[in-house]
Amino acid sequence: MEKMWAGRTSGETDAVADDFNSSIRFDSRMYRQDITGSIAHAQMLGACGIITPEEADGLTAGLAGILDDLESGKLKIDYGCEDIHMFVEQVLTQRTGDLGKKLHTARSRNDQVALDTRMYLRDETDEIIKLLKELVGVVTDRAEEYKSCVMPGYTHLQRAQPITFGHHLMAYSMMLLRDIDRLTDSRRRLNVSPIGSCALAGTTYMTNRAFEAEKLGFDGVCMNSIDGVSDRDFCAELLGDIAIIMMHLSRFSEEIVLWSSWEFKFIELSDSFTTGSSIMPQKKNPDMAELVRGKTGRVYGDLMSLLTVLKGLPLAYNKDMQEDKEGVFDSCDTVKMCLKVFIGMIRTFKALPENMIKAAQKGFINATDLADYLVRKGLPFRTAYKICGQIVAECIERGCVLENLPLERYKSACELFDKDLYDDISLAKCVEKRISYGGTSVASVEAQIASVRSALNTPDILK
Ligand code: ARG
Repeated sequence: MEKMWAGRTSGETDAVADDFNSSIRFDSRMYRQDITGSIAHAQMLGACGIITPEEADGLTAGLAGILDDLESGKLKIDYGCEDIHMFVEQVLTQRTGDLGKKLHTARSRNDQVALDTRMYLRDETDEIIKLLKELVGVVTDRAEEYKSCVMPGYTHLQRAQPITFGHHLMAYSMMLLRDIDRLTDSRRRLNVSPIGSCALAGTTYMTNRAFEAEKLGFDGVCMNSIDGVSDRDFCAELLGDIAIIMMHLSRFSEEIVLWSSWEFKFIELSDSFTTGSSIMPQKKNPDMAELVRGKTGRVYGDLMSLLTVLKGLPLAYNKDMQEDKEGVFDSCDTVKMCLKVFIGMIRTFKALPENMIKAAQKGFINATDLADYLVRKGLPFRTAYKICGQIVAECIERGCVLENLPLERYKSACELFDKDLYDDISLAKCVEKRISYGGTSVASVEAQIASVRSALNTPDILK
């Protein structure tokens, strides 16, 4: 088949080179954006008098027909074409003759591919935001369910202080809420139109870039045509956002793996989100959580590849930039899949509160509260801290916990102790007293839940 650029060259390209050069395998998924962009371009050419209104209508009808035929399966993508842009133009020319050859006036594939990719990633961003919102909703609902379920809170994976399971889950709602905010913010920078930048220098035709941008739902146009065709920040930013989402999901996954182990047994995953072993009949494996954790590595890889591809590129377009798409597409597919799995997995797991409280009763996680008791009786915190450390050491020696060390032992460590200390260090009290903003008390967690729910209904989510 004759190449679009036949004229400058006459010899055939090598079949291996053709295959190597082509991107239609992965950019064909942008066919909708390519055709929609071309329709706006044809209408702009018509509105500016660069082609006649009838020609603009003819191109629009031709392009709309191609879109319909692709959607219905009547028209199949020809993977022998170099890319989706060439394919659409080729079919248009086959169907409308010389008219089709007018479509590429005042544009280049350089601004066209930048346009299509921005439009495609804008849709992906919206879908990821939608899934994130659903996940935040589910996590927050589960948090409400367990807002008074006491568990050990950890630092260094050592039991630290009593918290509630609801409070712990709400920490993930906060992370995911920031992810939504990050995507909303990067979407703003993505949503400017490069079309009309042409090859790099703009055009001699009296085009109207704002007309085209508005038709395609952009908030504005790229101000510099060289930047318009060579900027791939929007891909890198989206990959960065997705990498952070995956990092959050991966941390959550790690806890799910731990919590569902026999050693913790804080939760039991639903059968529908676990697998068995081919040899060990007792196994119920948290494969979904492990896979999410694993796929995080692949997304980080996509981000690193793109940054590396871009780092040495002179302005403006270079063919290296064709390497932008596979990674960002793969990361979008991956994060959407992970979010869908997470929504189901979180919605269906069963918590085992009795095991959480049992774990919280060991490990002296109320030692800080014991020190605070002495502070309330007038001791400086450091002094109280030291006395309580000695009491913990004594308990370890006796093989008991703070709750059942006899009062006279307390009194011999410090005469300020009285029998009301036992009530003060009960786990329920420890939680109930942490009323500070953002803390673990039921009232405080309820306030967090309410803020997250109202943020989910606000367009500018963290304001
Ligand atoms: N397939 C190309 C890409 O993805 C489209 C742009 C081609 N432009 C060019 N001057 N060869 O980047």
